[in-house]
Amino acid sequence: MAYNHSMKKIIIVTGASSGMGKEFALQLAKSSRATEMWLVARREDRLIQLAKELKTEINPNMNFRVIPEDISGHKGFYIFKSLFKEEKEFIIDTLVNNAGFGTYGPFADTPTKKELEMLDINVLSLTGICGAALPYLQKGSRILNVASLAAYSPLGNFAVYAASKAYVHSFTMALAAELKDRGIKVLSMCPGSVSTEFANVASNGARKEVLNGVSAKDTVAHALKCLDKGKLVALMTFKWKLKAFCSRFVGRYFFARYTYVNEKRPYLPE
Ligand SMILES: NC(=O)c1ccc[n+]([C@@H]2O[C@H](COP(=O)([O-])OP(=O)(O)OC[C@H]3O[C@@H](n4cnc5c(N)ncnc54)[C@H](OP(=O)(O)O)[C@@H]3O)[C@@H](O)[C@H]2O)c1
Repeated sequence: MAYNHSMKKIIIVTGASSGMGKEFALQLAKSSRATEMWLVARREDRLIQLAKELKTEINPNMNFRVIPEDISGHKGFYIFKSLFKEEKEFIIDTLVNNAGFGTYGPFADTPTKKELEMLDINVLSLTGICGAALPYLQKGSRILNVASLAAYSPLGNFAVYAASKAYVHSFTMALAAELKDRGIKVLSMCPGSVSTEFANVASNGARKEVLNGVSAKDTVAHALKCLDKGKLVALMTFKWKLKAFCSRFVGRYFFARYTYVNEKRPYLPE
């Protein structure tokens, strides 16, 4: 697709109905980089409310489109492929692949069905959406994939989640390397504990708040700054940087066993 200055420029935020996704939408709406933002998640009422807030209080010049879809698994790829096909001339300015969730507890005690659903959203959906978006990225476009500090080491009581985020981090690094020559910036965001609805979802209601969570607003602002600067990884706090660094020297089994024994994560049966 040839570059045309009058082309519509779109920002896409998945998982915009709460937590860091909502914060991405709030902060990116202030940008003059794009003319339209797509807000994606399953809870439509929340997205409609957010779109109203963004239009009236943040940027009346931007168009906010609500996409109330379950983008899990292969479906995510096909949904975006057809949304892109319906558009006339456009560029994706920024793609934020943020939708995802975790499950607390030992693998043996959590429903395998839920673990598979987690892989569907954290891994398959994110990969498919990146693939669907590629033809519409231009020099200067950006992809921000939300991985996690959990990507750096296998974790007991968080086994599938940590593995899923290790995939996201690895895939994102390779994508950054492959897209560099096209002038496309790609960032892997690796937050530790952030105050969102994450713990409530991961524990099936057993833990309402993320323990020792930092603010989603600060974490997202830091990640967007890293993206602007063309960094590859966003690790906000000193503690997160230190943990990521030290993970190189700690045996993978040792850390998994240590967290299994010492870091219990509550989970209410379904
Ligand atoms: N909070 C933390 O401590 C932390 C740390 C590291 C990484 N992360 C990562 O950060 C990302 C955002 O999580 P959060 O902490 O902001 O949690 P959150 O408040 O629970 O937000 C998760 C978002 O993902 C959306 N989502 C989940 N499944 C979806 C599906 N099948 N289709 C469409 N949207 C879906 C949810 O929307 P609907 O339910 O409306 O669909 C929601 O908007 C996740 O990838 C998470 O793994 C979180």
